[in-house]
Amino acid sequence: MSEKRDGFGSKLGVIAAAAGSAVGLGNIYRFPCLAGENGGGAFLLIYVAIVLCLGIPIMMAEFYIGRRGGKNPVGSIKSLAPKTHWNLIGYIGILAAFVVLAFYSTVSGWTLEYIYKAATNFFAGKDIATIEQGFTDFHNNPFRPFLWQFVFMGFTAFIIFKGVKDGVEKYTKILMPALFVILIVLCFKSLTMSGAKEGLKFLFKPDFSKVDGTVLLAALGQAFFSLSVGMGALITYGSYISKKDNLTTTSLSVVAADTLVAVLAGIIIFPAAFTFGIQPEAGAGLAFNTLPMIFNKMTGGYFFCIIFFILLSIAALTSTISLLEVIVAFLSEEHGIKRNTATWIGTLVSLFLGVLCTLSLRKGSVLAFGNMTFFDFMDKFSANFLLPIGALFIVIFVAWKMGKESFYDEITNQNTLKVSVKKFIYFIIKFVAPIVILAIFVNQLI
Ligand code: PFF
Repeated sequence: MSEKRDGFGSKLGVIAAAAGSAVGLGNIYRFPCLAGENGGGAFLLIYVAIVLCLGIPIMMAEFYIGRRGGKNPVGSIKSLAPKTHWNLIGYIGILAAFVVLAFYSTVSGWTLEYIYKAATNFFAGKDIATIEQGFTDFHNNPFRPFLWQFVFMGFTAFIIFKGVKDGVEKYTKILMPALFVILIVLCFKSLTMSGAKEGLKFLFKPDFSKVDGTVLLAALGQAFFSLSVGMGALITYGSYISKKDNLTTTSLSVVAADTLVAVLAGIIIFPAAFTFGIQPEAGAGLAFNTLPMIFNKMTGGYFFCIIFFILLSIAALTSTISLLEVIVAFLSEEHGIKRNTATWIGTLVSLFLGVLCTLSLRKGSVLAFGNMTFFDFMDKFSANFLLPIGALFIVIFVAWKMGKESFYDEITNQNTLKVSVKKFIYFIIKFVAPIVILAIFVNQLI
C-alpha cells in the first residue's frame, strides 16, 4: 500500500484508454450479430437512443465515483460511503470482470488464430462454406483455441504488469488511432460492393415488428457492454484520471468513438454479408467468416486481412486490459496483495473460467445445456444481468446516496469548469436511468 499510485499522464491518454476499454469485440463482433438478430435498423435506433440518453450519464457517474473515491470499485465506494454496505456494488463489478474476461478471452483467442490463418493464406480462393467449416473445425481442435487464449491472456498480463502509464496508456494511445484508420478503409471497400444497398437498408431501415422486451433488454445490455459501464472498469480508470481533466467531455469523446466504431463495423459487415449471400442472422461467424470473404475479393486483401485481424485483436486487448485492471486494482488495494502477484491471480482465475467457455463450444460438450453453452451463458449473464444491475446500483448510489452537491463539485472540478448540462445529466442519473433499467427488467420478467 506504500507504493505510489499510478495514473494517466495526459488527457489524450485517458480518452485512448477509456475508448480502448469501450471499443472492442463488442463493437466489431457482438454489435452486428445482435443487430442482425434483432431487427437491424430498429435495434440500431434503440441502441443509439440508449447510448445517448443513458450511456453518457452513467459513464460520468462511474468516472465520478472513481476519481472522487480514488481507488478500485470496492475501495472507491468504501471511501465515499464508509461503514456502509454500498461497496457491495463494487463486488458486483469484480464478479462481472471475471465473467466478461472469461468469454472475452475465448473470442480474443480466435482473433489470433485468424491472424495466423490470414498470414498463411488460408482463405485464398476458398468459398464461404469452406471458410465456415474452418471456423467449426477450429472450435473442435483439441489444442489451438486454448493455445491462442493463453497467448492472448499473456499479452494482457504483460501490459498490466507494466502499470497504468507505461502499459495501459502507452499502448492504447498508439493502437486506437490505427484501428480507426483501418476501419474507415474497410468501410469504403464494403460500400462499393454489389450488396451495399441491401446491407445498408438492413442496417439502417427499422423493422419495428421485431421489437419486444427481449430486444430492448438486448439493446440495453449491448449498450452497457459496449460502453464498458456497469461493472467498475470506468470507476477504476476514473481513479487514474487527473483532477484537472474534464469528465463530461471525456465521456462524450469515449461514447462517440464507441458508437462510431459499432456503426462502422455494421457498415463493413452487412453489405459484405448480402454480397456473399450470408444470412445476417448468422451469429458469431458473421464477423469471422464474412470478413475474410471480403478480403478475398479485394485488391491487396491478403494484407488487409492480416491487418484487420491484428487490429481486431488489439481492440480486444485494450478491453481485456481494462477488465484485468479492475481485478488487479481490487486485489492489490483491498487485500494488500502485490500488483504482480495480483496480476497472476487475476489472469489464472479468468483463464480457468475462459477455458470452460472454450470447452463449451466443442461439439457434444457437456458444458452446453440444450441451446445454451457455458460461453453463451457467461455472455448473456454479464451483458443482460450483471451490467444492467451494476449500472442500476451505481446510479442509485450516486444520486440517492452521494447527492447533487458532491456530483456537481466533482464534474465541475470544484467549480472551476462550467458544465451547462450538469442538471440534465443529474436528472437522468437520479430518475430516468433507474426507471428505464428497472422497466426493461420487469418487462422481461413478465
Ligand atoms: N466494451 C467492451 C467491448 O465492447 O468489447 C467489453 C467490455 C470491456 C465490457 C470492459 C466491460 C468492460 F469492463
